[in-house]
Amino acid sequence: MTNSYVLILGASSGFGRAAALKLAREGFGVFGVHLDRAAGMKQVEELQAELTALGVPFKFWNVNAVDAAQRSAIVAEISEQFKNNPGSEVRLLLHSLAFGTLKPFVDVDGGDTVSQKSLEMTLDVMANSLIYWVQDVVRAGIMGQGGRVVGLTSAGSTRVLPTYGAVSAAKAALESYGRQLALELTPYGITSNTIRAGVTHTPALAKIPGNDVIMANAFMRNPHHRLTTPEDVANVLSLLVRPEAQWINGEVIGVDGGEDSVDLTWWKAPQA
Ligand SMILES: NC(=O)c1ccc[n+]([C@@H]2O[C@H](COP(=O)([O-])OP(=O)(O)OC[C@H]3O[C@@H](n4cnc5c(N)ncnc54)[C@H](O)[C@@H]3O)[C@@H](O)[C@H]2O)c1
Repeated sequence: MTNSYVLILGASSGFGRAAALKLAREGFGVFGVHLDRAAGMKQVEELQAELTALGVPFKFWNVNAVDAAQRSAIVAEISEQFKNNPGSEVRLLLHSLAFGTLKPFVDVDGGDTVSQKSLEMTLDVMANSLIYWVQDVVRAGIMGQGGRVVGLTSAGSTRVLPTYGAVSAAKAALESYGRQLALELTPYGITSNTIRAGVTHTPALAKIPGNDVIMANAFMRNPHHRLTTPEDVANVLSLLVRPEAQWINGEVIGVDGGEDSVDLTWWKAPQA
């Protein structure tokens, strides 16, 4: 039985799910945190069935990842399990939580806008929670030399889209946290990076107003003329967990097939 685990925040869907499967295929055990109502549990059960078939150990928690008491309980449970299995480690902590307000900041006509509560919640789930999980995981000693912390950002961290203001701010913060953690975790032999994934058809993207336009633009602009898939990102995570990736630290790594580099006007020009 494996001693190496991945701890995935947002394991039931999208990038988190693909990472769980890819890394399980490579022999890692999976600790998965997710937040799903009854309707979403079918996908969790299917994922668990696949992990069972792969023969790796796994444990899932259907809880709010920003709940401090839940976080402490999960880290304590993993620590306890590791005590009985010396040499066990969490190799990767992946932050893949998607939960944010998608409302504009301003509407003079009295339409619904971002509230203080929803803005704080977006920042808390999509950015700040990374810090609290890292603090607990490192303090508990369940991640050590060779550990990897990875967050997921988007091109929207540096660009403006209608209704993406709060999430954009969270992404900018997440990238900043990734760099700061790289500095602070280096003494422990742990790297910290942020993956900037290309536009990917997941439930989180489907919730963004105008996602059809976002996808059409990505399809046109991406040199491969297809969207990024969760598996594209999982493939890169499988590279990052290798010892050879130790020197990649404090980076925002584009995993988008070249999408972000291409100027959209270049594609529009021939049609003009
Ligand atoms: N889809 C894209 O185009 C794209 C591109 C770049 C970056 N990202 C980022 O990737 C990350 C993952 O997004 P995705 O597209 O895989 O989304 P997704 O909706 O497919 O998955 C989100 C996961 O987060 C979990 N989750 C949400 N809130 C939670 C909470 N409070 N506590 C515990 N679990 C919670 C869900 O249960 C689910 O497992 C997000 O940060 C997103 O912004 C997405």
